[in-house]
Amino acid sequence: MFSGKVRAYTNIALIKYWGKENQELIIPMNNSLSLTLDAFYTETQVLFSKDLTEDQFYLDNQLQDSKATLKVSRFLDLARKKADCTLYATVRSQNFVPTAAGLASSASGLAALAGAASAALKLDLSSEELSRLARRGSGSACRSIYGGFSEWQKGTSDETSYAVGIASDGFEDQLSMIFVVVNDAQKDISSRDGMQRTVETSAFYGGWLQTVPQDLAKARKAIAEKDFIALGEVTEASALKMHGTTLAATPPFTYWSAESMKAMNLVRQIRNDGLPCYFTMDAGPNVKILVERKNEEALLNALRDQFDAQQVVVAHTGPAIEILSEEE
Ligand code: PMV
Repeated sequence: MFSGKVRAYTNIALIKYWGKENQELIIPMNNSLSLTLDAFYTETQVLFSKDLTEDQFYLDNQLQDSKATLKVSRFLDLARKKADCTLYATVRSQNFVPTAAGLASSASGLAALAGAASAALKLDLSSEELSRLARRGSGSACRSIYGGFSEWQKGTSDETSYAVGIASDGFEDQLSMIFVVVNDAQKDISSRDGMQRTVETSAFYGGWLQTVPQDLAKARKAIAEKDFIALGEVTEASALKMHGTTLAATPPFTYWSAESMKAMNLVRQIRNDGLPCYFTMDAGPNVKILVERKNEEALLNALRDQFDAQQVVVAHTGPAIEILSEEE
């Protein structure tokens, strides 16, 4: 028996990944840049045993059906191949994040699976190699290998597409991200389907791709200069452009709900009243707000006037993936 257990934290993209160049290998159309957060994470244990006749997958202590297990098995095959291992495994995952609500459980989930499988199999991967492996599970997972800021360099092949950490000399610790959970039900259109439809049919997709390099350059510069306003402005602009592409898809769609609009308008209003804060959104209706830690309390007070206390969740910058145990 070989087992490995890790904890991986979620990340939220400030400059979004939206669209794949290669569906199977998950090579993206553009680089993306993210912040890893402490509040939502996944703990996963993978245990390979010669007593098993198939893979088993438990999520939050519930044995999963064959469809969910197949996805995990396919991913484990990649790790098994690297280790020349033919054993089946029991995978136990605990999500400390509402699943599939646009709160990026796929990022922490697949990063944790990659980390636990490679720890169990003693693959001894570098961060870049682990990032490459996690990418095959879910694109955004490749950024959750690192704490703080990270950039997924799109590359052109399986070997060259992985994330790297971005040093930021403590700037990351000055930031908070406040989640406004407007609906934690399962989303209608997965990020996978949403991005594919957009790449294939949206007249705005070309516009999106054209401006990503500028936005990335602005974000990198803002991080290097610890310029919160510049980082916030480009974060909000990137999210709005990404969501703009979905409106021009066939058939058109949006991840925004009336409650998302309410939260975004409130952020603009709070900003106009003098408190710097900026929103971003992913493939779901929840709104995430980037704010300096020193202004966190003031922002929370303003949000609590309009949203219930349990809808508002505070996150700070989170650490890199952590190995919790490794046993033979
Ligand atoms: O890797 P996925 O399937 O979780 O896609 C993530 C897509 C976005 O959250 C919308 C953007 C991003 O860069 O995380």
